[in-house]
Amino acid sequence: MNLAKKIQDRTAKVAVIGIGYVGLPLSIEIARAGFTTVGIDVDKTKVAAVGHHKSFIGDVKDSDLAEVAGKFSATTDFGVLATCDIINICVPTPFTASKDPDVSFIEYAGREVAKCLKPGQLIILRSTTYPETTEKVLQPILDATGKKVGRDYFLSFVPERIDPGNHKFNTHTTPVVVGGVTKACTDLTVQFYARFVDKVIPVSSPRAAEMSKLLENIFRSVNIALVNEMAMMCDRMGNIDIWEVINAASSKPFGFMPFYPGPGIGGHCILIDPYYLAWKAREYDFHSNFIELAAETNEGMPFYVADRIIEVLGTHGIAASKARLLILGAAFKGNVEDTRHSPAIKVMELILDKMAKVDYHDPWVPAIEIGKRRLKSVPLSAQALDKADCVVILTDHKCFDYDFIYKHSKLILDARNAIKRRGSKKLHTLGNRTAKR
Ligand SMILES: NC(=O)c1ccc[n+]([C@@H]2O[C@H](COP(=O)([O-])OP(=O)(O)OC[C@H]3O[C@@H](n4cnc5c(N)ncnc54)[C@H](O)[C@@H]3O)[C@@H](O)[C@H]2O)c1
Repeated sequence: MNLAKKIQDRTAKVAVIGIGYVGLPLSIEIARAGFTTVGIDVDKTKVAAVGHHKSFIGDVKDSDLAEVAGKFSATTDFGVLATCDIINICVPTPFTASKDPDVSFIEYAGREVAKCLKPGQLIILRSTTYPETTEKVLQPILDATGKKVGRDYFLSFVPERIDPGNHKFNTHTTPVVVGGVTKACTDLTVQFYARFVDKVIPVSSPRAAEMSKLLENIFRSVNIALVNEMAMMCDRMGNIDIWEVINAASSKPFGFMPFYPGPGIGGHCILIDPYYLAWKAREYDFHSNFIELAAETNEGMPFYVADRIIEVLGTHGIAASKARLLILGAAFKGNVEDTRHSPAIKVMELILDKMAKVDYHDPWVPAIEIGKRRLKSVPLSAQALDKADCVVILTDHKCFDYDFIYKHSKLILDARNAIKRRGSKKLHTLGNRTAKR
C-alpha cells in the first residue's frame, strides 16, 4: 500500500525521534489522530516514564499519556524505524560554547534513519535550524544509501511552533508550515499533518520553511531587545514609566504589537535560533546587524538586573555584601519548568557571591545548579518574604500570589512588572525609575 493511502486511512506507522518538549506533545497528538506512534529517545528515563504514563513535561498530563496508551509507546531502540512509514525528527539543536550551531544531534538521528531507510518512507525534520540543513546536512546522509529523494524516500522540513505554557494554542490549533525537497515530499507531508493540525501551509522548499521559523523567532528577539533598550532608556531619563508607555502605544489598533521588558530571554529557541542564522549568513559574507544587536541587548539584561538589585538595595541603605535576597522564579518564563538558558539563573549566578545570602523560590523548579552549587527552592511564606532585605521577581508564574508577596516584603525589585502597583516606595520595576528633577 502506498504512503498516501496509509495516511488517508491512518494505518501509517509513525516514529518521533526525540520525545522532549516538542516530541512528546507531538507524539500524543499523532496518536490521538489514530496513528500507531513510537517515540525514540536516547534518554532511558523518558522512555520508561512514557511506559508508566508519567509525564515529564508541564503541558502534558499523565492522563494524556494514559489516554493514548494503546497507540503510543516509547523505546531507545532505533531498530523500530525499519517498521515505520513516517519519521519526525525532534532532537535538540543547541549552540556550542562559542555560539556556533551544533547540528550533531540531527546528523546522529539522520544516520540512524539511514540504517533502516526503506522505500516510500517520509522523513520530516522538526528541529529549528539554519536554512539548508535539511538539504545539505540531512539529505546527503540519506542519499548516501543510494536511494533517491522524491522517488524512493521523501524528505521535508516542518518548523515547530509549540509554545510551552500556552493553553490557547497547541499542536492541534497552531498552523504548520511545510517545505518538501520535491513536490511529492511536500504533498505527502501536507496530507499527513492535515490529519491532526487544523491548518497546513505549504511553501516552495525546506529552505523557505527553515527561514520562516527563524524569522518568527528573530522577530521576537529583536522586538524584545527594542523594548528592553527603551526600558533602560526610561530608567536613565527618569520619571517615564515604560509600562505606561507600552499600554498607551498598544491603544493603536494597527501597526503596533506590544512586547515587554524583562530580565532577558531564555529557553531553547529565542536565545539560540538567531545565532544559527547569523552563523549561516556569515558563509555568504553577510553580517546580520539586527540579530547581533538584539542578542547583545537581551543578553545584557541579566547584567542590568544584577546591577539594579545592588542599586535598589543601596537606595534603601543596604550594602549588597550584607543583603539577604529572595528570588522569585528560576524558570526562563512563566508557567513552565524549563530552566534552559534561564535569565533568572544568570541573574542569580551574577549576584550569588556579592550578597550575604541568596535564596530562591519556584514551585516549578525544585532545585537548580549554579556552577558547582546546588540550590533548593525554599518555601514561600510570610516569614521568608519578611526575612529578605529584597525580594526580586524574575519569573512571573501565574501561581504566585502577588498581593501576598507585596504585603509581606520589605523591598521588591519586580523585573516582570507582575505587581501592578505604582507610587509605592518599596516597589521598583524596570523602566520606571524615579528621578529628582
Ligand atoms: N521547546 C520549545 O519550546 C521549542 C519550540 C519550537 C521549536 N523547538 C525546537 O525543537 C527541537 C527540540 O527541542 P526540545 O525543546 O523538544 O528539546 P528537548 O531537549 O526537550 O528534547 C529533545 C529530546 O531529544 C532527545 N535526544 C537527544 N539526542 C537524541 C538522539 N540522537 N536520538 C534520539 N533522541 C535524542 C533528548 O533526550 C530529548 O528528550 C529544537 O531544535 C528546538 O529548537 C523547541
